[in-house]
Amino acid sequence: MSDGLDDVVAAHTVLSEVDGQAGRLIIRGWPVEQLAGRTAYEDAARLLFDGFFEDLLAGLAGPLGQARAEVFGEVAALDTGLLDRTPIEAMRALTARLGDGDDLATALRLTAAPAVFTAAVVRAQAGQAPVAPDPALGHAADILRMLRGREAAPAEVAALDTYLVTVSDHGLNASTFAARVVASTRAGLTSAILAGISALKGPLHGGAPGPVIDMLDGIGRPENARAWIEAALDRGDRLMGFGHRIYRVRDPRADALKAAVRKLVGQSNVAHGRLEFAEAVEAAALAILKARKPDRSLDTNVEFYTALLLEALAFPPTAFTCVFAMGRVAGWLAHAREQLAGGRLIRPQSVYVGPQPKAAA
Ligand code: CMC
Repeated sequence: MSDGLDDVVAAHTVLSEVDGQAGRLIIRGWPVEQLAGRTAYEDAARLLFDGFFEDLLAGLAGPLGQARAEVFGEVAALDTGLLDRTPIEAMRALTARLGDGDDLATALRLTAAPAVFTAAVVRAQAGQAPVAPDPALGHAADILRMLRGREAAPAEVAALDTYLVTVSDHGLNASTFAARVVASTRAGLTSAILAGISALKGPLHGGAPGPVIDMLDGIGRPENARAWIEAALDRGDRLMGFGHRIYRVRDPRADALKAAVRKLVGQSNVAHGRLEFAEAVEAAALAILKARKPDRSLDTNVEFYTALLLEALAFPPTAFTCVFAMGRVAGWLAHAREQLAGGRLIRPQSVYVGPQPKAAA
């Protein structure tokens, strides 16, 4: 038995490879560093969809824009009950209103859904009316426009594209595995994506970046970092944004995102000295983790600089996981189709350790 399924291989995939020893991520033949910052999200999604859905030679931008406009109709179902929930719970509930299917049209609606629904939920929770999609815009540009009610600067659009592409796929992580399990039952793509969103929501997976901001805010000044971190670890807390099941070295996505934050300094919501402060906290955390867990190689993961980047783009920390879903949804969809195309029902075994029936008297 493998608790947590460490080292268990459950799929062959053409989609991405995570090399935890070398700190390398390849997405359909491309090192992540060559895609992030150079590719729009719709092109990365098309790369992932290639061969799993019908021909997309004309590109994904137009059809994805249309899909954003189509799903916007569901925003009318946002009621006060849903607005009392966290953004990811409300976004998931609206996504659940979409019908199941296995075709490209369903996949496009599901790619659009986290973007359109999150923007509407965040605005509604701030007492603002939702902003309808503009199908003519690129996906990242429209996300920021739907969120803010006005167009974002090109540097901000580029930063969001960098983020969405960086997180678009990542091997058999927990949410992708959950999506593949559901797809393997032939339940349909919407059901698979709902499973993905649900798994992503947890703080050990996609829920970490919001708490990274809480940690930075709790520390407040660089000189407080060591004491704050030591106290958190003494309480048995985990440091959000550090550690990974697969990486034994630095997560390559951390540097791609840190570079994106650096480019935004002076052009967005990055407060003066914020990046340097985060670097000081990161250095303190790494030194303390190394001293406390010398055998574990705990390093920075994608979520640490995700938090800074999404903060710089003025997403509220409560919605950071929703933005992760906006990027990862393309990976989930491609994996679900890959599972449908060649995989069997996923049905592992358990070892029963409960009581045996008593012998009949
Ligand atoms: N802070 C403090 N201690 C840690 C951390 C951390 N961030 N991560 C692992 N450890 C400790 C853990 O407590 C355990 O110690 P012990 O053996 O004394 O119980 C040891 O290191 C091994 O941990 P593990 O539970 O075997 O590690 P895992 O492979 O199950 O966990 C992880 C991976 C990501 C869940 C974990 O590192 C963690 O909780 N990190 C914080 C949350 C986080 O940043 N999550 C985002 C992950 S990256 C995004 C994604 O791809 O999903």
